[in-house]
Amino acid sequence: MSVLLSLRDVWVEYGDKVVLERVNLDIEAGSFVSIIGPSGAGKSSLLRVVLGQEVPTRGSILLDGAPLKPECEPDRGVVFQRYSVFPHLSVLGNTLFGLECARAPFTARLFGARRRAAIAEAEEMLTAVGLGDSLHLYPTQMSGGMQQRLAIAQALIKRPRILLLDEPFGALDPGIRADMHALITRLWNDYSLTVIMVTHDIREAFSLGTRVLTLDKRRRDPHAPHRFGATAVYDLPLTKRAPAPAVTDVSITLDDFCNN
Ligand SMILES: Nc1ncnc2c1ncn2[C@@H]1O[C@H](COP(=O)(O)OP(=O)(O)OP(=O)(O)O)[C@@H](O)[C@H]1O
Ligand SMILES: [Mg+2]
Repeated sequence: MSVLLSLRDVWVEYGDKVVLERVNLDIEAGSFVSIIGPSGAGKSSLLRVVLGQEVPTRGSILLDGAPLKPECEPDRGVVFQRYSVFPHLSVLGNTLFGLECARAPFTARLFGARRRAAIAEAEEMLTAVGLGDSLHLYPTQMSGGMQQRLAIAQALIKRPRILLLDEPFGALDPGIRADMHALITRLWNDYSLTVIMVTHDIREAFSLGTRVLTLDKRRRDPHAPHRFGATAVYDLPLTKRAPAPAVTDVSITLDDFCNN
């Protein structure tokens, strides 16, 4: 497998606070990387620099061996824990909006045959995430799980190579989560994605990932907690995929793990 994304000695600092230090990672094309770690370890910060929303204070990020370009590049799509859909647009409108912004950046509107083609594409993507019958609903008429499906469709419609997920299922109840696990696994395969997913649920990390990374501090200064940042302290390639958790399973969080 080829390396798609490389982080070389990446540091993220805010003022004198070091959040991430010496992060060195090679992420292979087609892998599903789960990232776990205590709250505040810098997991979302890591996703932000990979997304290109923020520039690392030091170090470099390479995509296909070339320095990462800014966020507007369609290589990366992102889904957050809280639904990031537009309340005033329908399901179809929300999905179409991303395509229109990408293809008609000045007007955010496509016309004629290009618009019809974009609608067909959006409908196909919405069918892939299980919203084919809900094209004209508005977000307030949808459950949390449906809104997350829509957020995934919005991210995937631009055909990113890398899908970044920041606790995407954290707000969903366990039954819906199991459905979403099946969905994301199918989309990962069908669209040949490379996925980087942050989660607090260890079971989810191991059942979905082909690799599990733990971000945490290697060194601590009790008098100045901000002095040292987190890095990848464990990096576990998973050769055998664990079975998906049963719907009735109680989810285990990293905090439970650390407290025991
Ligand atoms: N823009 C910012 N300015 C200053 N500090 C920031 C900024 N963004 C994040 N931080 C700090 O960086 C640290 C890491 O934050 P981050 O959101 O990456 O953690 P996390 O691992 O995602 O936590 P959680 O699991 O709670 O989501 C926190 O201490 C946070 O306060
Ligand atoms: Mg976070």
